[in-house]
Parts: sequence; C-alpha cells; structure tokens
Amino acid sequence: MNNIPVIMIIFGGSGDLAHRKLYPALFNLFEQGLIHDNFAVIGTARRPWSHEYLRDQVSDAVHETHNEVDENDLAAFASHFYYQSHDVTNVEHYETLKNLAQDLDDRYSAQGNRIFYMAMAPKFFGTIAEHINDQHLTSSGFNRIVVEKPFGRDLATAEELNKQITASFAEDDIFRIDHYLGKEMIQNILPMRLTNPLIKNIWNNHNIKNVQVTLAEQLGVEARGGYYETAGALRDMVQNHIFQIITLLAMPEPKDLTSQSIHKAKQELLDSMVIPTEDEIERHFVRGQYLGSDVTFGYRQEPNVAEDSHTETYVAGEVKFKKGPLADLPIYFRTGKEMREKKNRIDIVLKHMSNQYGMAHSNNISIIIDPQMQIFITINGKKINESGIRRENLSYGLSSDEQKQVPDGYERLLHDVFVNDSTNFTHWSELKNYWKFIDHVEEAWQKENEQGQEPEQYLPYRMGPKSAAKIFESPTERWIYE
Ligand code: BG6
Repeated sequence: MNNIPVIMIIFGGSGDLAHRKLYPALFNLFEQGLIHDNFAVIGTARRPWSHEYLRDQVSDAVHETHNEVDENDLAAFASHFYYQSHDVTNVEHYETLKNLAQDLDDRYSAQGNRIFYMAMAPKFFGTIAEHINDQHLTSSGFNRIVVEKPFGRDLATAEELNKQITASFAEDDIFRIDHYLGKEMIQNILPMRLTNPLIKNIWNNHNIKNVQVTLAEQLGVEARGGYYETAGALRDMVQNHIFQIITLLAMPEPKDLTSQSIHKAKQELLDSMVIPTEDEIERHFVRGQYLGSDVTFGYRQEPNVAEDSHTETYVAGEVKFKKGPLADLPIYFRTGKEMREKKNRIDIVLKHMSNQYGMAHSNNISIIIDPQMQIFITINGKKINESGIRRENLSYGLSSDEQKQVPDGYERLLHDVFVNDSTNFTHWSELKNYWKFIDHVEEAWQKENEQGQEPEQYLPYRMGPKSAAKIFESPTERWIYE
C-alpha cells in the first residue's frame, strides 16, 4: 500500500470513539503501510493533556483491542500523535491549531493534505465547520472532512450543517460516516445480489413477498441517556443504518461498481421513496420504550432521561419505493434496545407458489450481519422415511477464523477516506431523502403525543412491544425472526 502523506485532526481526541475505534483502526493502517512516515495526528479536546499523555492513551487503546502488538511498531506509531487543548467555540484556538498543523506538515512532509475528523458531540459539528472555514484551516493539498452521525436532527438542521460544511469542503471531500456500511455482511449485499443467478433472477417484486430488516440490541442506552433523549431509535438507527441497508437491498443494479454509479442507482431509488401518510404511520408503525427488570432500570429511570419521556427505544415500521426491483413491496424494519439478544439480520421472504405437495412454506433468504456472518436460504426437500416435506438451510458463512480476520468497519472506512473512495459513505442527496421520511414520522408522533398517546412499554430482553406485528399489511405476514 502507498504511504499517504497527511495531517489528521481529530476533534474529540480524548473521547470514547477515538479511543475504542479510531486509534486501533489507525494503528492497523499504519501496520499495513498506508500511513507510515509522512503522517501526524492531532488529537484535540478541552482537557489539558500533554502529547505524552495522548500517546499513552493511544497505546492503551491499541493494547485493549489487539491480542498481540509489536511494541516497537506501537511506539513508532504513537510518536506521530500530538495533543492540542482546544475549545471549539474559541476562535483563537483555531489559530493555534492551524500553526501546529502547519509545523507538523513541514516536519512530516505531509504535502498540505488534511483530514478533519468530527468525533465529538454532534451539537458542535456546525461550530467546528464554521471555524475551519473562517479561520482558514484547510491547506494546499487535499482537504477531507469526516462527519460522524447524527448529521442534523431533522432536514432543516441537516441543511444548516451541510451549508456550514460546504463553505469549506466540496461534496466529494465530505465523508459522512455510517459504520454499518463498513460491515462485512452489508458490503456483501451487492455481490450476493449481483453474482448469483439463483438470487439475481428472483430479486424482484414478482417473486419476493416482503423484506424484513432487524437490528436488535441487548444493551440499553447505558450512559448515553442525554444524547438518546434528543434522538430516539428512529433517528439513532433508522435514519442512517436501516435506510442504508434498505437502499442496498432495493436499489436498481448499478451500471458498474464505481462510486458514481452506485450513488446514482441509490439516488434513483430514493427519489421514488414513498412518504407515508399519517394514517399509514398510525397503521404500520409501532414505537416502544423498555421497562425495567429486577436488576435493570426502565428507560424512564435511566440517568439523564425525563420521567415522562416519550422517546422511543424501539421502532418498527414500513417503507416502500415506486421504483427499483422491489417497487411497491413492503420493506419492514425494526430496531430496539434491550431486546432478547444482539441480532442484526435481513430476511427476504419469497412469495408462496402453489404446488402438488401442498407445501405452504416458500423459501427465505436470510443475511445475518451480527454477531455471526452468514447467508442462508431455506430449502424444501423430502422427508426420509415418510411422505411430506422438510425444510433445511443452505448456508454460506465465514468460519470463526475468517470472522476474526474481518477488519473493523472503522478501519475499512478510514482506509476509504485516505484513498478517497466515497462509495461507502452517505451523499447529501441520499441523506435529504432519509430526513424527509423521518421528519414525517416524527411529526405524526408529535401529534400522537399531543393527543396523549405514548410509546408502548415493553418488557426488557424479549422481542419488543406486543403490538409489533400490527405493522404487517396482511394477516399472512409475520416476522421470520421471532
Ligand atoms: C450506533 C448507535 O450508531 O450504533 C447506537 O448510536 C447503537 O445506539 C450502535 O448501539 C449499534 O452498532 P452495532 O455496530 O453495535 O450494531
């Protein structure tokens, strides 16, 4: 791999994301030679840390995520890190940061290349973007910005943030990161769809009955109650991860695999997204909130959560498109905290075909994203010593050794930023469509709240609210994963 010269500035360098994800991912890229001699990372945050302290933190972060580490490599890697205490609202601090970046650029021959990474509380993204612009932090080489989610809180705030960012960065240099797009099995959706005649030929609304996307978590909101109160499951998981998955499932086939063709195909689909009416939201959406157990808090008892909070920790709903191979089909989704187990999966339910055996079950194609990585197709065959039909799974999976080799999503996506590949990032035009849909649902829920309706309370560590099945359009439909 090439050694890419760059100065990377991480806003939020003392934070959890940098520690758990970014430092280990950067170390792996260093080990592979993508960044080597000509790079430096500036971690910024308000705390008064020293360079040495940051380097110790970086080493700890790498040790915590790697079983074996070459200590010489790690020391060499950590020596490229610098800390700058920085208050994002203080204009003068940007001047100091700019000077440090310039010094390091000279020292490391970074050729004026900059990557700015917004890894802190989203409420500061706009301010940082504004000051990168008015304090002229961009440099003479490439200038790229990586923005964590959530990108805005609705369409209006997303538009405002986008305006602030595009003052300094072209759309092609804005990398709106969604870590789900770095996951192995999500990156497997297109190859699976496009290379198997068996699947490609049935990938249409004549053969598929419905699609179901489940992102279930066992954890609750933990220490993130403050943030979660401003988000809820719809903004936290659907607006980004679930919509990205659905887009990959439902988009028309791209002409080729370039980033442009893929985004063009995505856009064609999203322009045909159907915005549900209030009545459809009432019928095909369920929102829930987890209750406590003997040993765990209910959502409303979590720290920094209002006692009468209406924030949903579970949502199930439906989306449809007018175009693409799955046009007019119901695509169901659900996500929730404190569900029975961690399980991210997609189930494609094929239509039933009448047959001489009276067999009622058709085939399903299931893609397990987490925690295993697997695709399986249910197949019908004969029973051995009696008449009748039995079902078995045909499966494609990664062995546990292979699963260990799969790079973390952040490593993949950071690599893409370095090599300027925006295929697996969210473009502004996509995001706009997602927000339009979300805003509509949020508005309908707001009205429901005003009429005294609340999210349905559900027992923790089960499959969500009792009424979750009401979202289906027909009584013959049910969740494949129950
Ligand atoms: C994040 C959400 O984007 O995704 C979290 O903010 C959620 O609330 C997380 O827990 C789930 O990601 P993963 O990769 O663990 O499924």
